[in-house]
This record gives sequence, structure tokens and C-alpha cells, in this order.
Amino acid sequence: MSTVTVRPEVMATKPYAPGLTIEEIKEKYGLDTVIKLASNENPLGTSPIVQKTVAKHAANIFRYPQNGNPRLNKAISEKIGVDEKCIISGNGSDEIIDLIIRVKAQPGRDEVITYESCFSMYSLMSRLCGIKFKQLQRNENFKQPVLEIARAATENTAAVFITSPDNPTGLAVSVDEIRQAAEIMPSETIFVVDEAYIDFASPAEKYNMIPLLREFPNLVLTRTFSKAYGLAGLRVGYGIMHEDLADYITRARAPFTVNLIAEEAAIAALNDDIFYNETLKVVKEGKQQITDGLEKLGCKVLPSQSNFVMFTPPCSAQKLFEELLKKGVIVRYLKSFGYSDYIRVNMGTARENDVFLKQAAEIING
Ligand SMILES: Cc1ncc(COP(=O)(O)O)c(C=O)c1O
Repeated sequence: MSTVTVRPEVMATKPYAPGLTIEEIKEKYGLDTVIKLASNENPLGTSPIVQKTVAKHAANIFRYPQNGNPRLNKAISEKIGVDEKCIISGNGSDEIIDLIIRVKAQPGRDEVITYESCFSMYSLMSRLCGIKFKQLQRNENFKQPVLEIARAATENTAAVFITSPDNPTGLAVSVDEIRQAAEIMPSETIFVVDEAYIDFASPAEKYNMIPLLREFPNLVLTRTFSKAYGLAGLRVGYGIMHEDLADYITRARAPFTVNLIAEEAAIAALNDDIFYNETLKVVKEGKQQITDGLEKLGCKVLPSQSNFVMFTPPCSAQKLFEELLKKGVIVRYLKSFGYSDYIRVNMGTARENDVFLKQAAEIING
């Protein structure tokens, strides 16, 4: 029997349940090779330049990193053309999401608003903080209800979250739509656009929210090094926001959450244009390959601005997911998002995409 109890919000929370790892799948199904297309990771792996940087700094890890990671913030600031005072680096963008909710929302009074079937972290962090969590219905064809959320926000809405490009649908929201929503949103509500997949959205101008930061001091953009930069395992992300909010967040955060190796790796990744551009190319080609292949198999594929697509197969999605797993291909079954007829698959290398399509064909065509 447990000797202590904890806050009711924590007692009521189930721990985050990630999918099985490659090693676990190999062992469970007796497989030698497994292809993982389930977590939207980089198809090219880790940049060789980043690998060298990590090795080079291994001898320094007895030192603490510089608190607040000013070198990384400066490198990001130069890359995106925003003052470094407006940037907060974090242990993945998950940390930035958590900080925004903790810094802004008052338990028992405030709420966070987003929409159904969205990234689970917004709900997890809100509920743990004792904050009401509201989810609006999506519009037709899964579109994010951006204006509806802006209209629903009140003085007790601490923050709203829109993911663009969205996970799991891949749909992106244009700058014009975000501007329209920001204009009617209460100025005290933090308007977060989660841009974990922004690198893959095209054309870039249509989705570039950075100019809006000057117009709307309550707008926050969150980004990550986990996807296009291939650093998911190192945990680095950042938020772009008004410098006053960045200052408040700095007061509330634990020190040193972006470790020394992660900081060096992220700076090296930002400078490695070749790897970054190659990633975008492989993802773009892979998206075409997978979309064409799935459509030939009779699947309905949503248009995606991201490094994955969501689709519904002409057979049971659960069966397709389970049979793929047995054949050593891990994709994401979207039942936990509330879409039991859908699967999300991210772009791998051309060979991995090919294996996925061949195995899916065998299952679908019986
Ligand atoms: C929409 C969205 N936001 C944020 C994240 C978290 O990214 P990070 O690895 O930077 O914590 C993810 C990760 O999959 C995501 O899908």
C-alpha cells in the first residue's frame, strides 16, 4: 500500500504511454529488422556534422551548460530573424508548452482551449496544473476550428493551442486565418501556434507567422529540433514570444534543462543547411511516393503539409496496423486520437516507404 497520496490531479492522471520501441517489437515478433514510421522522426537519421559535434563535446560534460542557453538562442535568433530576447530554448517544445501553461493559468479559475483529437501534451499539462481543458469540434474535413476557438476565448482563457501543421491530420493554417483569430482573441489570452512541423509546410510565406509577432504581443510560436533537424533523442525545442513573456518564463523554469550536448548539437544542426535541405527533399518525395502508393491501394489520404500523412484504408485500420507490426513496420494507429478508422505514417527513406507500401499491399489485397 502506498504511504503517501499526491495532488488529486496527479492521482487522476495516467502516465504517457509511448508505443513499443524497435527492440521490443523485434523481440515480440521474432524479427531481425523493423522499420519505424510512427513518431515523425527524421528519415535521414542524425546529420554526420551533428554526430561529430556531439563526439567533440563529450569530454566537456562534467561542466554545467550556460544557464538559459544564450548561444543557442542567439543562433536561433540569427536563423529566424527575431531578437534573441524573444526566444526561450527548452527540453523539447514539450517543456515550452508546459511552461506557458504553468506561468499563465490560475488553477480553479482559468481554462485552456484547443480542439478535439489534438496533440496530447496540451491536455496532460493543463490537467496536471488543475486547469479546465476545453476541446472544440473540428470543422469539416478535420480543419482546425481557429476562429471558433478565438470566439470562445474569454478573460478566463489562459491559453489556446492551434497546431499548424497539425498532428495527426497534417493540415496547416494560413497566416491570414491566424491574424483574423488573433484580432478577436482577448489580448490577455496566450495564443500558441505549435509549429513542430513548420519546416515541412510549403509555400513558406503562406505559413510564416513570424511577422505577426510584432502585431500581437500575446502570440507564441513553439518549434522543435526533433523533426526536420533530427534531434528527437536529445530533446531540444524553443518558443518565440514577446520579450516580457520570455522574461516571466525565465523566472519560472528549472535551470539547465537544455543540456550541454543538446545545445552544441542544436547549434551545429542549425548551421547544417545541406542535411536540412536534403531532409525536406526526401520528405517531399516520400510524401508523393506514399500518397500515390496508398491511393492506388484504395486508401483515402488527407493532404499534408507535414512529414507524415493520415489515411483511412479500405479495410480495418486496426487490422492493417496490427498486421504491419507483425511484418516489422510500425505506423501509428489513431484510435487514441479518436480516429479508429485512420492511420498516420511518416515519411521514411525511399526504401523504407517502398517496404511499407509493399507490406500494406499484401495485407489490403489479402
Ligand atoms: C504537435 C507537436 N507538438 C510538439 C511536439 C513535441 O516535440 P518535442 O520533441 O520538441 O518535445 C510534438 C512531437 O511529436 C508534436 O507532434
